[in-house]
Amino acid sequence: MRVDPWWRSGVIYQIYPRSFLDTSGDGVGDLEGIRRRLDYLAWLGVDALWLSPIFRSPMADFGYDVSDYCDVDPLFGSLDELDRLVAEAHARDLRMVLDWVPNHTSDRHPWFLESRQSRSSAKRGWYVWRDPAPERGPPNNWMAAFPRDTRAWTFDDATGQYYLHCFLPEQPDLDWSNPEVAAAMHEVLRFWLDRGIDGFRVDVVHCLGKDPALPDDPPDLAAIPHSALNDQPATHGVLRDLRRLVDGYPGDRMLVGEVYLLVQPDVTRYYGRGDELHLVFDLPRTLHTPWDAAAWRERTETVQTAYAAAGAWPTLVLSNHDTPRHRTRLGSEARARAAAVLLLTLPGTPFLYAGEELGLEDAVVPPDRRVDPGGRDGCRAPIPWDQSARHGWAGEPWLPWPPRAERCAVSVLRDDPSSILHLYRRLLAARRASPALQVGDWTVREAPAGVLAYERVAGTDRRLVLVNFTSEPVTVPAAGRVAVASDGGSEGAEFRGELVADAAVVLVPGR
Ligand code: GLC
Repeated sequence: MRVDPWWRSGVIYQIYPRSFLDTSGDGVGDLEGIRRRLDYLAWLGVDALWLSPIFRSPMADFGYDVSDYCDVDPLFGSLDELDRLVAEAHARDLRMVLDWVPNHTSDRHPWFLESRQSRSSAKRGWYVWRDPAPERGPPNNWMAAFPRDTRAWTFDDATGQYYLHCFLPEQPDLDWSNPEVAAAMHEVLRFWLDRGIDGFRVDVVHCLGKDPALPDDPPDLAAIPHSALNDQPATHGVLRDLRRLVDGYPGDRMLVGEVYLLVQPDVTRYYGRGDELHLVFDLPRTLHTPWDAAAWRERTETVQTAYAAAGAWPTLVLSNHDTPRHRTRLGSEARARAAAVLLLTLPGTPFLYAGEELGLEDAVVPPDRRVDPGGRDGCRAPIPWDQSARHGWAGEPWLPWPPRAERCAVSVLRDDPSSILHLYRRLLAARRASPALQVGDWTVREAPAGVLAYERVAGTDRRLVLVNFTSEPVTVPAAGRVAVASDGGSEGAEFRGELVADAAVVLVPGR
């Protein structure tokens, strides 16, 4: 039973294509690898797939530096293969979301090549070019996100000006105040929407509007990358145009934006009045919440209040391709399992990151194998599919395996009903069967210290969730049938009133 629209009630599964499954033998995952695992994803029970960037790219930032927005990079496959993947996903009732990177292109994109040709180039104004400051330094004090401690400006000898890049020098920022840029990017979205893509994850969307005066960041914040501070009214006009375009297509197409602001973390403004993004990631507020009942209670109360006031729908993310996995952050599988219960039963649209259903930890990547300029290789380790030497991959993967790969391989966990993989599957099934878990109201219930208890209610459908954040067993006076237990114990039976350490249960409350 699914309550519409799908992006509210459903669960979205993020695939980092390089690391999912290689079928060509080059050690890099590909579209064919994803296609061959669609049955697995349907079995798991997710509703949509989000693919991190697959467009043509020189791969300075592994696809977040795009050189052609309307083609698939040959490393991953072809446009035909993508069409086939989308058709086969749709046949299994899985929606397809692509990662769209509108803030910057690759420095090899034909737009930038033309822009940097001369000061009078027709595309000069597509990017942010400025004269040097009086002592020939960069135009302002903005810092790039990576490499660490670098400026967001690169001087271009040929034309004697600096260009802005909030990320790598290979990722020049577009100037979205230029209507030609917006028009060209709208064409890109139409290209994919016409091909049947269900939505886009919009990369660093809060960076699109810039203060036209490009003022210095305040001195006390000047060490923070500008991308984590940029929060300008101009972005909202850009978003309203995007929303109109996407809503012009039939079938509930969706935009989910990455807004990562360190100083002003309230992201609800990016939903507009229901006329900007459909969904926004709330990353600092979820990724950095410590393993503590009071902290999770406070986080969720804050989210509920802020989102209700804004008429916005929350999202939940525990892991992604930019941050250490939550299994690694939390330090034990028991906690990772209990966290999965939070992820799939708190209000909002959950995003799963491929491999979390296996309890994968970050790989330990030796210095000579590090490839990411942002130091994020560990959470991008390849997915182990079976127990063979290369765990189902055709070639030796581009990054080392995560710890315990032979024990966490999909084939192994699929054969073990007590595994974390089966827990995810049962949670996804329980969620799909329950309007309360998908879209119900959320109310905190009294519980002993260290335990978070909450109820989800939609009409007559009710679920009670109990999460023990402590490393001791606790007695919780609650009654109901255990629908899902993070340790697998006692499902189907009456709750006995005790939770073991770092464990969670979903109950169907008694009358
Ligand atoms: C986003 C992506 C990250 C990328 C950056 C620049 O934060 O998630 O992987 O490096 O944007 O595009």
